[in-house]
Amino acid sequence: MSEVDNKLFNEIVGKLNDLLPLPVTIQKIIDLTKDPHTELHELVSVLERDQAMVSKLLRLANSTYYGFSKQIKTISHAVVCLGYNNVKNLAFAASTSPLFKNSVISYALEKGALYKHSYAVAVCSRLIAKQTKYPNPEEVYLIGLLHDVGKMVLDQYAKEKFLDVIRLFKTGNLTFLQAEEQVLGFNHGEIGAKVAQMWNLSDELIESVKYHHHPQNASAGNLAVHMVHIADVVVEMMGIGLGYDGLNYELNASSTQLLKISDSDIENLIVYTMDELKNDELMEN
Ligand SMILES: [Fe+2]
Ligand SMILES: [Fe+2]
Repeated sequence: MSEVDNKLFNEIVGKLNDLLPLPVTIQKIIDLTKDPHTELHELVSVLERDQAMVSKLLRLANSTYYGFSKQIKTISHAVVCLGYNNVKNLAFAASTSPLFKNSVISYALEKGALYKHSYAVAVCSRLIAKQTKYPNPEEVYLIGLLHDVGKMVLDQYAKEKFLDVIRLFKTGNLTFLQAEEQVLGFNHGEIGAKVAQMWNLSDELIESVKYHHHPQNASAGNLAVHMVHIADVVVEMMGIGLGYDGLNYELNASSTQLLKISDSDIENLIVYTMDELKNDELMEN
């Protein structure tokens, strides 16, 4: 992964920990689930410290999406059924989603719009992962959820500069992303990748956040970045959570070719994503 070298970028990276510190519980969960020798009771005792997390995990484990035949009543049963990796991703998603609910003025995203967009991209990315038989759809879901985390960072730390981005965009000669890159020297994906790195997430996730608008720049083995890229454009077509940059991103042909996604697959993805969102009470949480 090539590194950005830019004064503003480095200044913002230095402040990230103040803006988006990772809750201690989730840090422990990441460490425990990474270690294959972790005993079930160790993980359960950490999860149990956070009652809000426990109820969210139980609700998710019992959601129609997982389709377990018996009702799951205890957190240890949920961990056994879902597996460590899913528990990590679900716990992470549950603990970070409140962050996305604020308005993001620099992108003209009203309160809740970034969350709706991110959540829809997560759902659509997971549908693509399943369609293409990707081995870890929950990881792709998490990437979808976090892909635009950099927007929140830039809204906090580059407000002044963003007035120039908006001005340049309004001249009508550039896409919003091009205006962002021209004025700042980097884009929200690149700063978002630094957040994912600080949170100790996987290399694949970090790279996918970084290149979600330029998937051709990611390493050859990274398929998740193409899934999230396609999902981002599909959700844009659906008109969910649009701001200044809505309807401004083009589908990269290399992504659809690589994953063998046809035009009719895109149409189906719109329908299936809409269906899943309609059935999902989590959209409101
Ligand atoms: Fe983005
Ligand atoms: Fe996005």
